[in-house]
Amino acid sequence: MDKLKIEGGPTLSGTIEISGAKNAALPLMAATLLAPGAYRLSRVPRLRDIHSFCNLLEHLGATCRWDESEAAVLHIDTTHVKGWKAPYDLVRKMRASVLVLGPLLARMGRAKVSLPGGCAIGARPIDLHLKGLRALGAEMELRDGYVEATALRLSGTAYYFDVPTVTGTENLMMAAALAQGETLLENVAREPEIVALGKMLEAMGATVEGLGTETIRIQGAPELAAVGFENIPDRIETGTYMVAAAITGGDLLLEGADPSALDAVIVKLRETGCSIETGPGFIRVQGVERPESADLTTLPYPGFPTDLQAQFMALMCVAKGASVITETIFENRFMHVAELKRLGADIRIDGRSAVVKGVEALKGAPLMATDLRASASLVLAGLRAEGTTVVNRVYHLDRGYEAMEQKLAAVGARIERIRE
Ligand code: EPZ
Repeated sequence: MDKLKIEGGPTLSGTIEISGAKNAALPLMAATLLAPGAYRLSRVPRLRDIHSFCNLLEHLGATCRWDESEAAVLHIDTTHVKGWKAPYDLVRKMRASVLVLGPLLARMGRAKVSLPGGCAIGARPIDLHLKGLRALGAEMELRDGYVEATALRLSGTAYYFDVPTVTGTENLMMAAALAQGETLLENVAREPEIVALGKMLEAMGATVEGLGTETIRIQGAPELAAVGFENIPDRIETGTYMVAAAITGGDLLLEGADPSALDAVIVKLRETGCSIETGPGFIRVQGVERPESADLTTLPYPGFPTDLQAQFMALMCVAKGASVITETIFENRFMHVAELKRLGADIRIDGRSAVVKGVEALKGAPLMATDLRASASLVLAGLRAEGTTVVNRVYHLDRGYEAMEQKLAAVGARIERIRE
């Protein structure tokens, strides 16, 4: 398993190009199952999760091909999709595979998808996905760790989500796009990735209203059409590099970013003393020598994203004063705390909150990555820590960050990948 070796200390400065959003590309790829044909998705990041999803689509009979001449363009052809089963060995590698459930059910009239099981950050049930699909008329059975769903034709309905769920909203939107009549989805997630999927469904022929609000209304179409569609920038990658500028006291220009998707993060980092300038397609972050402490509570969008909680905690480890970080979305998203403490951080977990007392300096040490965003926070801490930090099990990072060590090295970080 590869490792990342980091010599802490340099202040980062320069420009980083932001890649397409992982958590938008995945539902966009799932939506290609709704209609047979040739799709052209652009600004798709080259990540392990994207490759895993290509494997799943190919297992179902689709073909996936990266464009030879244009970077980040993925061609998907679902003309010959016949499959409707997503097996355990594919789903266990990536929970987002559950996103094929809605489109397969809508297009094929049936789907057999392995239950994703838990992961490092929590139980992550899909009960609200299943309840919603039942509300659209699907028959559902749970057997041998699989959910088996059938529906001759889904019919529009009104469905209220008990809690806003990102992939739950996406599954229901895709199913509703082919359902008979109108579907009203209430208390939906409002993330930019949801809006991107809604726009692709509109381009494919569905009528979608209310994108970005807590209520989405979808008129199903008898059939949809294959399209070309451009993915949105990755707001979590952007936020991660914003923290990289902050934690090294550096000055980074993040090109291809969407500042409007990061209001809560911009406000919070300014609170710690960063100077942040935004404009169409860019965010510039200038850090300070030692950040001020600031409390944080993660919330569904447009609140501060849970996917940036670990990264923000790394910054608070060297802040002046104490900060209280509360994680309200997942029940076990403090796996990075034990690793940050190996660098000398002073953190105490109290239920859903962590109390972080900023220290003058962190000292490099060997660390173990546990999940995607926790591994990013360890890299960020390593950029600041005196001496050498080695982050093991970097495959976690490769799931969600395109060429992270190259992007960081290009702006002055002393970071290299050790292949094992
Ligand atoms: C999406 O996961 C993201 N993944 C996650 O990013 C992100 O952390 C999460 O949304 C929250 O923003 C993708 O988009 C592929 P949820 P998802 O359903 O959809 C509960 C990353 O790092 N819930 O919005 O699985 C659930 O337990 C990943 O890129 C139910 O109770 O998250 C959680 O407490 C990690 N029942 C809350 O809702 C359900 O049926 C929000 O989860 C569904 C969810």
